[in-house]
Amino acid sequence: MTSFNKISPTALLVTYARQFSDIPYAREISELVDAQSVVGQYAPNGIEDLKYFAPVMEARYKATNGLLAKFGCRQIVELASGLLPRGMVMSENPEITFVESDLPLMIEQKRALVDRLIAPRPNLHFAAIDVTATPSQFPVNAEYLRQGEPIALACEGLLQYLTLPEKQLVFANVQQMLQHYGGVWITPDLTTKQRRSQLRNYNPATERILKAIAQNTGRSTLDNSFEHSEHLQQFVADQGFHLQTFSLIDILDQLSSLERLNIAVQDITPLLAGTDIFALTLEG
Ligand SMILES: C[S@@+](CC[C@H](N)C(=O)[O-])C[C@H]1O[C@@H](n2cnc3c(N)ncnc32)[C@H](O)[C@@H]1O
Repeated sequence: MTSFNKISPTALLVTYARQFSDIPYAREISELVDAQSVVGQYAPNGIEDLKYFAPVMEARYKATNGLLAKFGCRQIVELASGLLPRGMVMSENPEITFVESDLPLMIEQKRALVDRLIAPRPNLHFAAIDVTATPSQFPVNAEYLRQGEPIALACEGLLQYLTLPEKQLVFANVQQMLQHYGGVWITPDLTTKQRRSQLRNYNPATERILKAIAQNTGRSTLDNSFEHSEHLQQFVADQGFHLQTFSLIDILDQLSSLERLNIAVQDITPLLAGTDIFALTLEG
């Protein structure tokens, strides 16, 4: 097992958390992969422990969708798709070409899962991509992508596990893809130590979950965070990108899990307000 494959089981945890939202297919996916069976490793009390984690996962998904809509690209390459339903949902629109990608084992599991839920679609593709690989495994010049038309890359839930040198490799691969097609990279995955600590310290259960994730993956999302926001911004600029920052609080009104989990708005507001999502484009 490569060290990256140890990250893959965390996809089941976020899949379980998303089932408490109205995100399409969230419940079906969670049940089909029996996400509940791994939850005990991270959250012994199940959804009670995930009470604040679940709305953040819902917010991250919906905020990514919001920015994908804002930039309006009709070709989308999702990195580290895991068990996300976005490809199934967005490819309902035949004008959108959607590429799901992940490490080989995970993307095959995903393809099989999608086959159980929907009929094959000519505009939904699956690619095995290690985002850190050199040379790049990104689908530059793939026959299913239209030349001369911008693409949007999306990535939620991976970069926070990667070291700075690994993040640099991802940025280089994204840069190469955007140089070819033009477009934007949308990700909530760039985080600072202060923001990561806020999530960790939000309640004892959240702290336990993050510790269990670090133990199971062998990777600390706190250690792999940027020192502070100036560090984050400098890093992004050094890789040749322009950064636009948005906050998850902007989609507070869209969160269905708050009512389902009986969470008061004021209890989740600080956490959402402290969590950013970014749109990155190439400088110049
Ligand atoms: C926390 S999960 C998030 C999955 C999904 N994006 C979501 O939000 O549900 C992290 C994902 O990153 C994938 N992954 C880990 N290392 C990777 C790499 N080097 N390249 C591509 N994907 C990777 C894992 O297989 C897993 O699906």
